[in-house]
Amino acid sequence: MAIREATWADILPASKILAKAFKDEPAFGEYIHPYRDQYPEDLYLFFLRYLRVEYYRRPDHVMIVSSTDDESGKEERITGLAYWIRKRAVEIKPSLYNRTMIQAMESYNYVESFAYPNRAAEPSRVNVMEQVEPFQKHHWSGTRAESWYLAILCVDPACGKRGYGRQLVNYGFDRAKKESVGCSVISAEGKEDFYQACGFDVHVGMAKDAGGDENPLKDVPGGSIFFWDNGIKPEGIKSYGKA
Ligand SMILES: CC(C)(COP(=O)(O)OP(=O)(O)OC[C@H]1O[C@@H](n2cnc3c(N)ncnc32)[C@H](O)[C@@H]1OP(=O)(O)O)[C@@H](O)C(=O)NCCC(=O)NCCS
Repeated sequence: MAIREATWADILPASKILAKAFKDEPAFGEYIHPYRDQYPEDLYLFFLRYLRVEYYRRPDHVMIVSSTDDESGKEERITGLAYWIRKRAVEIKPSLYNRTMIQAMESYNYVESFAYPNRAAEPSRVNVMEQVEPFQKHHWSGTRAESWYLAILCVDPACGKRGYGRQLVNYGFDRAKKESVGCSVISAEGKEDFYQACGFDVHVGMAKDAGGDENPLKDVPGGSIFFWDNGIKPEGIKSYGKA
């Protein structure tokens, strides 16, 4: 069992694993993709288009994959993906090359979506993770402004409960330990115990706590926000709406 940084070639198989893993998850599955039962083959397009763009948000955005090896140690196929983001008090911009590639991928996605629309999705909901950001970003302030944030985690359901998920989580904890910062995650419904077992020991609230009716996730189950503070006493953490 090995993990390594994702390459461009991993993006397509990883998006298919994400589609399987998140099909019936309340936010990415049910909320964003209400038509997924009619068009199950379209779901991966959401993740494909997301990963294509995110792949170029380096150096603070890191995609890791887990894989199975054959008896000779040669990699057979990938089994899961984690997308870790180093959140900082002062963000480091991607290079000019990467910024250009991000724009190119966004344009490519836009044009491709005419030929291959994601019919499983409700178009008004595909940007929900960006829409909900203002209601939760106060948690990443003060001493928690610096952390490794687990933005996406999935393991192929056919390979579940074999330790891949924990291994992909450990990657971020190892980076955080080296940099003396914490880790953070927003949990899907039913995965809270998994994350706590992996070391996220502080529950600070829910993604839907703030914003009332304006928060698009207000009726979506899940969204527990967890931190691991790496022994750093939390100080200067803002409340919602405080500048
Ligand atoms: C969550 C997920 C990544 C776990 O991956 P996994 O490879 O099955 O997890 P592991 O085998 O590494 O499990 C690690 C530990 O957590 C436990 N665990 C796994 N899933 C769990 C769950 N849903 N609830 C409670 N404990 C769980 C395991 O039993 C194991 O405990 P142990 O080390 O004491 O034996 C995987 O189930 C998944 O991709 N789910 C769908 C997508 C998703 O919800 N991702 C998270 C979004 S925030």
